[in-house]
Amino acid sequence: MKQFLITGGAGFIGSNFIRYMLDKHSDIKIINLDKLTYAGNLENLKDVESDSRYRFVKGDICDGSLVDSLVQESDVVVNFAAESHVDRSIGKPDDFIQTDIFGTFQLLEASRKHGVDRFIQISTDEVYGSIDKGLFEETDPLMPSSPYSASKTGADRLVYSYYVTYDLPILITRASNNYGPYQYPEKLISLFVTNAIEGKPLPIYGDGLNVRDWLYVADHCSAIDFVLDNGKIGEVYNVGGGNEKTNLEITDLILKTLNKPDTLKTFIKDREGHDRRYALSIQKIKELGWQPEYIFEDAIIETITWYQENREWWEKLKNGEYLDYYKSHYNQDL
Ligand code: NAD
Ligand code: DAU
Repeated sequence: MKQFLITGGAGFIGSNFIRYMLDKHSDIKIINLDKLTYAGNLENLKDVESDSRYRFVKGDICDGSLVDSLVQESDVVVNFAAESHVDRSIGKPDDFIQTDIFGTFQLLEASRKHGVDRFIQISTDEVYGSIDKGLFEETDPLMPSSPYSASKTGADRLVYSYYVTYDLPILITRASNNYGPYQYPEKLISLFVTNAIEGKPLPIYGDGLNVRDWLYVADHCSAIDFVLDNGKIGEVYNVGGGNEKTNLEITDLILKTLNKPDTLKTFIKDREGHDRRYALSIQKIKELGWQPEYIFEDAIIETITWYQENREWWEKLKNGEYLDYYKSHYNQDL
């Protein structure tokens, strides 16, 4: 039995990953360490709660003594825990620096003290910054442009330094934009789908021509599992879906699928420091033997249907002070 410590497992990708791992592997046990910030939600994991291989611990990855005791009983650390939303990092960067950098440091310190078989850092394609043409490779310079992506870059390189300096067996994945079930309704797809269902405006930043590469969350989960088994220690792996779309294309697709009027499209001021385009080369992970399985055109419909069928999951999340911040910042109701 391998003991996994998964941090941030009550969030969007972490909860999908826990479900994926418990379904796929009978010989693992999982501790989910999550602070339950606004983005952490135990309802994401209702179906696995009673699985004897799963244990939830409410706590902060910045809490050195808690982290130390949990890492001590673990073989593998998977670090998802982070503040993850770019707009929130523009409004209030503090928690991003604390969790994304200092929290990762605490996990690394405990991992080097106790020795783990693998430490995998869930990094992001945003560490590279924006690219007008072509694709980012793992060896390209890191040029993050928001407090979120800069804090993730700090963590990414700190993890690498523990490999070079202390021989910690680390791996790093850098994934593109995920979509799928259980995504907090503040990100482009989850916000626009839920707003469209409610007949509310879809607030498009700037000209709507920024490009993101969309990766279905189940593909991200399979890539992490694959890299844990097959990745070379100390290496970074890009994980992309190969589905580049402008925000306007995504908006039109959502409106068409939900049979909602074009008049819901609302152009508002641009995000500060807004990266124009993200695009990854996934040659390296492909050569190792992984590639995405899900077809965007099918998985996006499944995703939209999931939000239609799980209204009670997201309705109660659309409240709180972030809505006030968004309104004062963008002059737009969410
Ligand atoms: P999310 O915001 O949905 O979830 C983050 C989780 O971390 C929440 O459950 C939250 O409670 C928890 N958390 C926050 N601070 C914590 C702390 N101090 N201690 C313990 N737990 C804490 O995020 P997500 O979209 O699921 O992203 C997960 C990870 O994947 C992040 O590291 C993010 O940078 C990375 N990533 C996300 C995407 C994407 O498109 N969403 C793409 C690439 C990489
Ligand atoms: O690329 C990976 C990253 O993707 C992850 O590391 C981040 O955690 C995740 O939040 C995501 O960052 P983005 O900034 O790309 O995602 P977001 O969904 O916030 O925005 C996607 C695009 O949609 C971006 O160009 C901004 C635009 N947008 C977003 C929102 C929330 C709008 O036009 N209007 C909106 O209201």
